[in-house]
Amino acid sequence: MNVLVTGGTGYIGSHTCVELINAGHKPIVLDNLCNSNPESLNRVREITGEEVPFIEGDVCNEKLLHEIFSRHSIDCVIHFAGLKAVGESVAKPLEYYQNNLGSTMSLCRVMGAHNVKKIIFSSSATVYSGDNEMPLRETSKTGNCTNPYGWTKYMCEQILRDVAKADPEWSVVLLRYFNPVGAHKSGLIGEHPNGIPNNLMPYISQTAIGKRDHLSVYGNDYDTPDGTGVRDYIHVVDLARGHVAAANYMMNHKGESVFNLGTGHGYSVLDMVHAFEEANGVKVPYEIAPRRPGDLATCYADPTKSREVLGWGAEFNQVDMCRDTWNWQSKNPNGYDE
Ligand code: NAD
Ligand code: WQD
Repeated sequence: MNVLVTGGTGYIGSHTCVELINAGHKPIVLDNLCNSNPESLNRVREITGEEVPFIEGDVCNEKLLHEIFSRHSIDCVIHFAGLKAVGESVAKPLEYYQNNLGSTMSLCRVMGAHNVKKIIFSSSATVYSGDNEMPLRETSKTGNCTNPYGWTKYMCEQILRDVAKADPEWSVVLLRYFNPVGAHKSGLIGEHPNGIPNNLMPYISQTAIGKRDHLSVYGNDYDTPDGTGVRDYIHVVDLARGHVAAANYMMNHKGESVFNLGTGHGYSVLDMVHAFEEANGVKVPYEIAPRRPGDLATCYADPTKSREVLGWGAEFNQVDMCRDTWNWQSKNPNGYDE
């Protein structure tokens, strides 16, 4: 099928293009490059031998969207485009609401006008309320988000659910990602955050390569086995394959569905540090620092529904995640800016 991939030059989008091509589909990418580099698609070509058509532009631009849907025969859309930095969303809430909600509404309006009514949306475990028991199921309580970024995901889910309710021809799949890490095994594509990384894994790998002096471990007095925060880290290639499974599922299912994309295993911050050191034979100096506001002690998925309904499950383990992160980091110390 022909798949419009918004945000397709980004971290998860570029890996998903590879897996779509591997599965015989044809991605077309729309991205405004506000947080990515189009070199990622040259690397996708190196990996797959396929050229991915790329349109540089904003998903909020409805005129451009009309042109794209008129020119290309699109079967479904995977909507990755969005701003994703939690701290920045607290400082710039309007930018986040405008971009993340505006792009989703423009996209749905134009899709509907062109009778393309299949969309996969990048949601997040962050939509779950902090007072749930673990593991998180798709039926666990949502809301009580701790930052505007989380609210944008929560609100986009609601918008898409209402779109599917208003017109039974729509198929809406909401994928709630846990903590994506790792990179394609070639080391050609991966994650390169701008500035100081907010997330644990890029911080670990930048510390190992000497760009950062040490990792600050945010709190060691949580109610977890070693006192540090526990998360469900998932290899980005597994996550990408989850989108291919969801796209196949959408071909025969209408209405709204929601799936967790996680492994079901929780690892602590120190588990990840030690696994990274062991897998790669490197040192990751760290210091214990105060808790980071808004952090939960523990967060991991129950991936049963994805396994049973999508036939999808994570195949890569913690060692794979650490090895592939380091392979990308050491081959591309400055990301795509070589
Ligand atoms: P990313 O920043 O690497 O990719 C997002 C892409 O969207 C970027 O290439 C950016 O340039 C593009 N973009 C943003 N706004 C746009 C707009 N208005 N028009 C066109 N392009 C636009 O991030 P990622 O990690 O690949 O995340 C992809 C999606 O998954 C995002 O929606 C993110 O919120 C969601 N998500 C990410 C994580 C994570 O930890 N990485 C976890 C849960 C959900
Ligand atoms: C993981 C663990 C930190 C950095 C965030 C977003 C969420 C989703 C994924 C998009 C926690 C600890 C981290 C550091 C540390 N993104 N840590 N030192 O917070 O689970 O989720 O990314 O949807 O919305 O909130 O991921 O990688 O930031 O943190 O000790 O320098 O690592 O305290 O326990 P998080 P993370």
